[in-house]
Amino acid sequence: MSDSNASLTVGGATKDYAVMDGTVGPQVIDVRKLYANTGMFTYDPGFTSTASCDSGLTYIDGDAGVLLHRGYPIGQLAEQSSFMEVCYLLLNGELPSKGELDKFITTITRHTMVHEQLTTFYRGFRRDAHPMAIMCGVVGALSAFYHDSTDINDPAQRTIASHRLIAKMPTIAAMAYKYSAGQPFVYPRNDLSYTANFLRMTFSVPAEEYEPDPVIVDAMDKIFILHADHEQNASTSTVRLAGSSGANPFACIAAGIACLWGPAHGGANEAALNMLREIGTVDKIPEYIARAKNKDDPFRLMGFGHRVYKNYDPRATVMQKTAKDVLEKLGVNDPVFDVAKELEQIALNDPYFIEKKLYPNVDFYSGVILSAIGFPTEMFTVLFALARTVGWVAQWNEMISDPAQKIGRPRQLYTGPTERDYVPVDKR
Ligand code: SDX
Repeated sequence: MSDSNASLTVGGATKDYAVMDGTVGPQVIDVRKLYANTGMFTYDPGFTSTASCDSGLTYIDGDAGVLLHRGYPIGQLAEQSSFMEVCYLLLNGELPSKGELDKFITTITRHTMVHEQLTTFYRGFRRDAHPMAIMCGVVGALSAFYHDSTDINDPAQRTIASHRLIAKMPTIAAMAYKYSAGQPFVYPRNDLSYTANFLRMTFSVPAEEYEPDPVIVDAMDKIFILHADHEQNASTSTVRLAGSSGANPFACIAAGIACLWGPAHGGANEAALNMLREIGTVDKIPEYIARAKNKDDPFRLMGFGHRVYKNYDPRATVMQKTAKDVLEKLGVNDPVFDVAKELEQIALNDPYFIEKKLYPNVDFYSGVILSAIGFPTEMFTVLFALARTVGWVAQWNEMISDPAQKIGRPRQLYTGPTERDYVPVDKR
């Protein structure tokens, strides 16, 4: 608690509200007593100035372009860590010893299979169903299979459910891809790393041996790290709100997947690559920049802008470098990458984008890499959901294990009709 207060005078009465300090970043004004004191609510649609909780998982300084997971900078984690180690860090708060990491990896590996009955859910979808629609349905359906890990008040069951979700998302995601491609599902293998296992389940076919390319495994693992968690974004807030009612973790993660799908959020990676392909060549960029600046045109530069980052998204920096490395190592010469780099340069020197502090975000370059690896654009947000599951699960655990947590129930500014009597239809 800070030693300063915030005073608010309403209707001639002045009340003090405690100011709370975090370990770093903006202080908060504790307004929990505001309604009792004033009969008024705060008003903040979109939560631009509202802290919904306290959390020790991820810190973002949007002006400085800083992203820390449990204090470790994202650039260092992306360059020196692994996705499994970042999962352990987010779940447990500290980097693991070698023994702790090996034990964690073994635990996750042994949860990668899904109940065989789950495969029948896929057959209920059309082959051309968007894989995010399949993810919403199949992940929600996990609630029907794992009754032994849905008691959210039992820490042991919360841990098992968390491990199951992290472990099974690659299997479920790969199955969604296989189903859309009309290829047979591929079972996980315990002798492969988390990310190599996912690539094999996605791209191998029974007709021939498949050896995951270490270049692609490394790039994919880095992409997973960059998407792991990101403070109280829309989908994480959805998971927390769903969890606050006591809903089981599988249902909560399914709610997060649904929210992530939106093009303003995780769906932006698919939209960004489609936009870059629509632009097609560098000479068409000015036309699209003009559209993005035109108030009467709903078009926005997908993969640009961010609610929190008013500087470079540090994830975009790593993603651009990874894109360059992967394209070079795979010998892929995708003109879309040139369009992306030129578009970024033009936008960053345009007064509109400078004034509104619009920079590339995590979604701007990811599609270039994923496309080079061989994923169809419809799979991009599925990969985002796969990686973000550890963040959702860690945030859910943090909330559920907080004894002070209660059901989330925002209020409103009512603008509808005041009370009036019912009028029978023959009198209207
Ligand atoms: C993710 O929250 C997170 O942490 C999310 C995420 C995560 O890891 O979980 O980081 C992942 O969702 C990244 C964002 C992906 N979305 C996109 O790339 C879609 C394109 N971007 C925009 O839709 C927008 O920038 C948002 C949704 C990301 C942020 O919107 P805000 O914070 O509500 O900002 P805003 O819409 O109020 O924009 C401020 C101004 C507006 O102009 P004015 O009304 O002030 O005149 O900037 C303009 C906007 O019109 N603007 C853009 C723009 N983004 C904002 N103009 C053109 N192109 C854009 N991309």
